[in-house]
This record gives sequence, C-alpha cells and structure tokens, in this order.
Amino acid sequence: MIKQYDQSFVLETAHTSYIFRLLPTKQLEHLYYGKKLTVSSSKDIEPLIEQHAFAPGNTNIYDEEHPEYSLEDMRLEAGMIGKGDIRIPFVEIIHADGSSTNDFLFQEAKINTSHTPIRTLPYALNNKEELEVTLVDEAYAVILKLYYNVYPEYDIISRRAVVINNSDEEIKVNRLMSTQLDFSNHNYVLTTFNGNWTNEMNRHDHIIESGIHINASLTGCSSSRANPFVMLSGKHTTEDDGDVYGLNLIYSGNHYEAVEVTSYGKMRFIAGINPQNFSFLLKQSDSFESCEAVMCYSSHGFNDMSKHMHAFINDCIVRGTWQHKERPILLNSWEANYFKINEQKLLRQAKAAKKVGIELFVMDDGWFGKRDNDQSSLGDWQYDPKKLPHGLKHLVDKINEIGLDFGIWVEPEMVNVDSSLYRSHKEWTIEIPGHNQSEGRHQRILDLCNPEVVGYLTDVMSELFSSANIKYVKWDMNRTFSDIYSQYLPSSQQQEVFHRYIIGLYKLLDNLTKAFPDILFEGCASGGNRFDLGMLCYMPQIWASDNTDALCRYHIQNSYTYGYPLSVISNHVSSTPNHQTLRTTPLDTRYNIACFGILGYETNLADLSNEALEEIKNQIAQYKAYRHTFQFGTFYRIKQDLHNWCVVSSDQKEAMGMIMQELVLPNRQHHQFIARGLKEEGHYHFFNQEKQYNVKLFGDLINTASPIHIKQDSLAHHVVAKFVKMPGEVEDVHTSGSVLMYGVNLKQAFSANGYSEQVRYFQDFASRLYFIQEESEIK
Ligand code: DGJ
Repeated sequence: MIKQYDQSFVLETAHTSYIFRLLPTKQLEHLYYGKKLTVSSSKDIEPLIEQHAFAPGNTNIYDEEHPEYSLEDMRLEAGMIGKGDIRIPFVEIIHADGSSTNDFLFQEAKINTSHTPIRTLPYALNNKEELEVTLVDEAYAVILKLYYNVYPEYDIISRRAVVINNSDEEIKVNRLMSTQLDFSNHNYVLTTFNGNWTNEMNRHDHIIESGIHINASLTGCSSSRANPFVMLSGKHTTEDDGDVYGLNLIYSGNHYEAVEVTSYGKMRFIAGINPQNFSFLLKQSDSFESCEAVMCYSSHGFNDMSKHMHAFINDCIVRGTWQHKERPILLNSWEANYFKINEQKLLRQAKAAKKVGIELFVMDDGWFGKRDNDQSSLGDWQYDPKKLPHGLKHLVDKINEIGLDFGIWVEPEMVNVDSSLYRSHKEWTIEIPGHNQSEGRHQRILDLCNPEVVGYLTDVMSELFSSANIKYVKWDMNRTFSDIYSQYLPSSQQQEVFHRYIIGLYKLLDNLTKAFPDILFEGCASGGNRFDLGMLCYMPQIWASDNTDALCRYHIQNSYTYGYPLSVISNHVSSTPNHQTLRTTPLDTRYNIACFGILGYETNLADLSNEALEEIKNQIAQYKAYRHTFQFGTFYRIKQDLHNWCVVSSDQKEAMGMIMQELVLPNRQHHQFIARGLKEEGHYHFFNQEKQYNVKLFGDLINTASPIHIKQDSLAHHVVAKFVKMPGEVEDVHTSGSVLMYGVNLKQAFSANGYSEQVRYFQDFASRLYFIQEESEIK
C-alpha cells in the first residue's frame, strides 16, 4: 500500500513501513524504514521527523532561507555531490561544463498501478503499486526519477532510479545507485558473503564503528568474491529474533554495497552498480537506468527475513515454465570424465543412472570442437565426431531410449584463441587490439556490448538447442574480466563496457529463454561466480559451487540460504575422496546436504559398488517422495552445537530435518534435533530412516565380539562384512510441534562404550536426516 499525506509518503507491506517526506528545501528526507507503524495522517508522522533548529558548525547551509539545514547531517533518500552532503553519493553526474555538482529537487510524485518496465535490465514481477518521484536539476535540465515498488505479502520494497538528460549537451553519469538508506545511528552489523572459487559464501559480520566499508565486485560478474546479497542487523539479532534488513540487487555485473558512518554517528547504506571503472555517456534525451534493489526488513531475526526473500524470489524473480515446477534429478558427466567423454562411456553411465532413478543426463564440457582440454574450441559449437561418431542427435535419442531426458553444457560468452570463431572474428572479443592480453582458463570474453555478437550467439545457440531433444542447458562462464575494452565502442565510451556487457548478456538470455521456454536453464560460473537475482530472472537454478565436499557444501549452502531459496540452489553428490579437498565423507552425509535444494549426482555410477548403488537408489526414491518440500518448502537454519536445518511444507504437515557434526567430540554424546516452522499444537510423528552399517566401519573392534580373531581387511573380514550388518539406531517419536521445536533428545552417540541399536553410529562428518509428519489423530 502506498499513501501520501501532504508532503509525506508512506509505503507499507504486511509488517513493514517505509516513510519519507519532502523537505522545505525540496530534497527528500528519509524518515523511517522498519517494523510497521500505524500512521494515518501527516500529524502521526511528525514525531518521526528529525528536529533541526540549527545546522552543525563548519558545514554548508543548503540555502539562506533554511539556515537550519545542512545536507551533510540530513537523512536523505538520494544524496548528491556539491550542495553540502559529503557522504557517498547516490548519483554523480558530470555536466558539459565539467561541474559535478548535482542539485535534484522534487518536482512531482505519482502512484502507478504496476512496475514501470526497465528497458535494459530484468526486474521483479507481480507488483501492483509503484511510487514514481521526479526530481529535477533545473540548472542543467537533467531529471532523476526514483521508483519504489511495494510487494506487501513478501515484506519487500524495491528501489531503483533513472537519469534522463533533457539538456542539449552531453552528460556523463559517473554513478547511479539503486537504493540508499540513511539510518539515525550506526548500531548495526553488516554481514557480507565473500570467497572465491570452490570457497563461496563465507559469512563475515562487520561491526561498523567508523569510516566506510565496501562490499563490491570488479570482476565483471556479481562474483564469488562478494555476493551482492548483504544484511544489516542489530548486534544481538539471532536466527529467530531481532532486527534485520536483507538487501540485494537484481544485477549480475559489478556491484557495490557500502556502509558509511558519518561524523554525526549516523549511517548510510548505499547499493547499486559499481561506480569504479564506470561512466555512461548520455546524449540529449538519452536515459540511464540503475538496476533494481530489493529490500526486506524483519523484526523476527534472520530466518524470518530469509523466508520472505525466498518467497519473493520464487514468485517474483524466477519466472517461466519451471518457476514452481519440481526440478529433475540429474547426473552430470563432469567429475566422472572431465574432458574424456565419448558416446560409449556416456551411454554406459546413463544406463547406470536410469537404474538408480535419475531423470536427466547432462553432458558437460568436452563434447564440441577439439575440446580435449581447456585450451581450445570455445566458440565452435559443433560436436566432435571423434567423441560422438554418430552425432549429437543420435546420442540424445539413445539417452531418451534409455528413459532419461538429455541436457547439455555450453559456455557461449567465451572463445578460445584456438578456435575457428576467433580466427574469423578477432574483433568480437573484449581485448585491446595490438596489446598483450591476459587470459583466464586460456579463454577470452566475447564482446556482448556488440549487438552483432549477441545476434550471432542467439542464432548459434538456437540452432544447437533445436538440433536434438534438449531439455536442460547448463550455461557456464569461467573467467573474470581483464583488458576491458570493446572493439565495438568508441574510446569515449570504454567506461561503459562492464555494464553494456551485462545488458547484452540479458538480451541474449531473453532471446533464448523466450525461444525455448520449456528448456530448464541452470546458471553456472565456475560454480558460484554469478549467483544473483539477475541470472535468476532467466535461469531458475544455479550451480552453487564447484566444491562438492559435503562439509564445505554445508557452509556454502547454509550461507546461500540467507538470501536465496532452496529451489535455486543446485547440489551434487560426488565421489570420495572428494575431487576438491581429498576429504572422505560418508555417502549419506553427501546426500543429506545435497538434498536441501536441487539434487543431482556427479560421479561415475558405472564404477560404483552394488552397495553404494543401492544406497543411491534409496536416496533418490526418498528425494522423489519429499521433493516438493526439499525444493520449495520453508527453510530454517537452527543454531545449536551441531549443524541443524529444517524444511517444512507450506501446509506444515510435513518436514525434514538434518543434523551434521564436523568432528567427534569424545564423551559428549547427547545430541538434539531441533525443528522449526511446525504447528505448535499439531501432533507429529518424528522418525528416521532405518540404516544398516558395514561392520568394517568399526575396524578391529570386531574382535571384541567375534569368537575368532579377524585381521582387518583380511578375506575373513570381507566375508563377515558381507553377511553381518550393524543395525542403525531407531528414532520413533510421537509428540507435539512445540516439543519438536524445543528439541528431541536423540539416541546417545557412540563413544567407546559398545554398540547396539540404542547407540547412534556418529563419526566425523556424520549426519542424519529426520522426517516429521503430522498425524491426524493423537496416538
Ligand atoms: C566449471 C563448472 O563450474 C564445472 O561444473 C564444469 O562445468 C566445468 N566448468 C567445465 O569446464
């Protein structure tokens, strides 16, 4: 709901209010963003207005008529340079006369009944109310429009801006942010998620005392170095209680989120396209659009904020055929084969996949050109006849005959110098002609600033996607930018390359997703190097990390869930020792982590033991039975000694929980599972899946029970292991939701004191999955 009371604007969602007003000096003053306030007149709003009888000393006064106002110490909706505000600006425009003073003042405001389209960038769907505020810098005939969209049921407010050059001279937009929040104090913790390849999303909590803290990417992608999702929370906020703002951008390129503590103890948060290496030329009547910022506030802790973000992303960011549709369980060929693929091997692996219940077979890198390693062929999207002697269509038909859908890997934005494409179109890459070029993974980036390249890639990919029965595409992107130069743009516009590339990428994705609405696209950028809301507008799921080690994955996935729903997080069970860490974790733990989201496998199933295949078959059958909740349920992170997750169906009748331990802590064997999101008074059955353990897992402890001595790894040990299984513990509880949410005391974990079904086999990296089902009658 958007309301205007005289000169004040009130934006309301189900549980939040966002309020600002027009200052007598005609800037917009930020008054409030937080828990919903009851206001129904300008009188009600008055107490929210900061009192200014005089301006602080040694500051600039905006104008003589208002000696009490210095913009340096006002809370503003959009700060700018040159009229007293010396904080990080929202907008920075260089005029034809060289000045960078911007003085945008209120002209008008109107309420629209839907989201005004963004010409160049994707934006959130399903909005019904938008506030459009127009500010004008009269001296230079430049307009700044601020758009606020309200998504009441998700407690989401979005913000963005547009600059329009109405003058007859050229201007340069050196920065245009998407949102700004000026807080009256700085009692907040800024949480950022940083990392690198195979090490995405490390959570960092920064107590901001003074100065500026920046979270940004200059890689050309939203990046694994600094995800654009950040949080501002109270110092004591927990998963279930306290203030938190979740903030994100619908953007896949260089982004920037900064927090500045002012000399007056206030705090400014600002987010948008990274102004570093950026400047956009606007000729007469041209406009520049910022990306859309998404903001969510909750007074009930991180889980509640995440819940709203998740629902918003599922309903308003992800779109198309697959938006709310259950996603298939896939087998990806990469870690089983790397570049060494051929038709025979793939068919053998696909047959093994079918037997365990997999639904989609994905042929990863290595199938095209002469792609025997990562040094050639990107750009040449024709199958390699040595590897696929009967062609791509034949392979796909064979896979379909086995009973699996087929998916393919591509990396369309890239080219190797060793490729026919590069040899015929050197002018199509991002590089500085005549200079030595730096490369990443031996590849160069195609210049998506150039519409001809976007058109070419649309045609080539369309041809590929229609050449066989392709149901899924893994869209990879494996490098960061260097030698940033578009051979298509004039020298005066080279600072536009980063942003124009993203505009070109979105155009390409728009063309292809419209032409192939039924294909399931999965985003990937060396894992999570482009895990953001922009990509999710085209691709309903993203490969979260190239790291498939279960322990690392727990942390990576856990961090993603602060800002992103399970339905977009793609996870695979892979082999051990793990290819990234050489760590060995149990097969059930690998599954127990991967099943929270989109499940896949990435291992040579044709090589696995019957025992492992049987376990995988059971995992897949189980996942299918609970898939909707694993992919679309309400997810909770639970703070306790063990790692603890819970996901609950929307009707609260079904839930799954997970606990995981890192290392065994001897003689500390009492553990709990804690549920969340159940009906307090509902009655539930809590149970685990019965398991049997290989006796070899207990090593030579076998001799404490065996009548004859058994040497480890001897033939006798193998034979006994074949016939004697150790029963796993049984958890079987009937109780209320409130008890389950307080915590279930589990069977004691093993600690050197004998083993029976009353004891939980719980070694390093062990985990358990629990099932919770509502019972119609109290038993
Ligand atoms: C990087 C991806 O993240 C991997 O999953 C795999 O597709 C390789 N690229 C293939 O080159």
